[in-house]
Amino acid sequence: MVNVIGLGYIGLPTALMLAAHGVECVGTDYDYSIVDALNAGKITFKEEGLEELFQKARTTGIRFTTEYQAADIYIISVPTPYDKFSKRVNPQYVMSAFRSVLSVCPLNCVVIIESTISPGTIEKYLRPLLKETFQGDKKVHIVHAPERIIPGNMIYELIHNNRTIGADDSKIGDQVKKLYSSFCQGEIVVTDIKTAEMSKVVENTYRAVNIAFANELAKICRHDEMDVYEIIRICNMHPRVNILQPGPGVGGHCIPVDPWFLVGDYPCLTNVIGEALRTNEGMPEFVLGRIYEIMKTVGINDVTRVGLYGLTYKENVDDIRESPTLQLLESQKRHLAKPLKVYDPLIISDIVDNQYHSLDVFLSEVDFVVIMVKHSEILKNAEKLKNKIVLDCCNSIFLPNVYHI
Ligand SMILES: NC(=O)c1ccc[n+]([C@@H]2O[C@H](COP(=O)([O-])OP(=O)(O)OC[C@H]3O[C@@H](n4cnc5c(N)ncnc54)[C@H](O)[C@@H]3O)[C@@H](O)[C@H]2O)c1
Repeated sequence: MVNVIGLGYIGLPTALMLAAHGVECVGTDYDYSIVDALNAGKITFKEEGLEELFQKARTTGIRFTTEYQAADIYIISVPTPYDKFSKRVNPQYVMSAFRSVLSVCPLNCVVIIESTISPGTIEKYLRPLLKETFQGDKKVHIVHAPERIIPGNMIYELIHNNRTIGADDSKIGDQVKKLYSSFCQGEIVVTDIKTAEMSKVVENTYRAVNIAFANELAKICRHDEMDVYEIIRICNMHPRVNILQPGPGVGGHCIPVDPWFLVGDYPCLTNVIGEALRTNEGMPEFVLGRIYEIMKTVGINDVTRVGLYGLTYKENVDDIRESPTLQLLESQKRHLAKPLKVYDPLIISDIVDNQYHSLDVFLSEVDFVVIMVKHSEILKNAEKLKNKIVLDCCNSIFLPNVYHI
C-alpha cells in the first residue's frame, strides 16, 4: 500500500494516478479542508482531466485522511519554499512530514521524497532524523523521485514524461521504478540520490536562465525599437539555438524558487544564476514602467482606466503562487499608488482590491488593457480589445493597436 503525504498540485494527481492504475493508495494531508472536500467528492483545484481521473480513482476505493498510515511505500509531496534571506531551501515541511512518517512506518518501508530539494538535503536533514528516531536500528529506505509535471498539462505529463529516481541501492531503485511504471510510459532513469536532487534543480535553473536571457533581449530591443519576438523566431531557426520567450515575470512554485537553492548553497559559484533570477524578478517592475510610458504616448492620464488581465502565474490554471501580476500590484503599493483594476476568469474569490469577475464589465471600465496572462478566454475574445489600447506582455493578441514589453 502507498501513502501519499501532501495532497496539493503534485500529491493529489499522483495519488489518483496510482489508484486509477490499480495501486492501493491512501492520501494524507494535514489540512482538514482538503481532506473533507476530497471525501465529499470535490476536487480541490482546477486541472484539465483531473475530475475524470478523480472519479476513476474513487471507484478503486482510494481514501483521504489527515492520519499517517502504516504503508509499504510513502510518497512525500509537501512544499519546499526557499528562505528569503539565506536563499537556501527551507526543508521544514519535508522534515516534519518525514518525522510523522517515521512515527508510523513499518520496518524496511520505502519513503520517496517527491518534493524538489537542493543537492544534499536528504543527507543533511533527513538521514539524521532517521538515526535520531531509530538509533540506527530500523531500516527505512529513502528515495528521491522529483516531479517534472507542469500545471495545465499535468495528467498527460504524469503518464508521458521521463522520470528520475535517486536511490542508495539499485534494488530499491528498481522497486520504485516498478511502482511509477504502473502509470508512467516515459523512460525512468535510476541514479543516486544527490544526482537526482541536483538534476531536478538544474532543470528548473536552465529554464530560469533561458527566460532571463529572453527578458534581457526584450529590454535591449525595447531600448532600440527592435522586435524581440521576430529576432528570437529567426535565431531559433538556427539548429543549435532555442531561446524561450520574454514575459511579464516568472511565477509558480518552481522556476522562480528552486534556482535560489543553488545560489543559497553556492553563493560564490552562481553569478549567472543569481543575475538571471534578479532579471526575472525585475520584470513586473519593467512592465509597470512600460504602462507608464504607453500612458504618456497615448495621452491617458487616468490610472483608473487601466486594467490588468490575468492574475494567475500562467495561462489556463488557477494557481496564483509567485504570480507576476501580484508582484506588479505589490510594487505599485510600495510606490504608494492605488492598485490597478484586475480581472482573471479563473480566480473566482476576491483576492486583491479592484478585482472584477466579468470580462465585459472589466472591459467597459478600462481604456488600456495589460495582458499579463494569455488565458484562452482572452484569445477567443480578442476582437473585444479592438477599441482599447493594449499592452500584450505575452505576444498573444494580433491587433494593430497592440504594444509589447
Ligand atoms: N506545483 C508544481 O507545478 C510542481 C511541479 C514540480 C515539482 N513541484 C514540487 O512538489 C512539491 C509540492 O508542491 P505542490 O505544488 O504540490 O505544493 P502544494 O502547496 O500544492 O501542496 C502541498 C500539500 O502538502 C500539505 N502538507 C504540508 N505539510 C504536510 C505534512 N507535514 N503532512 C501532511 N500534509 C502536509 C499541504 O497542506 C498541501 O496540501 C514542492 O517541492 C514543489 O517544488 C511542484
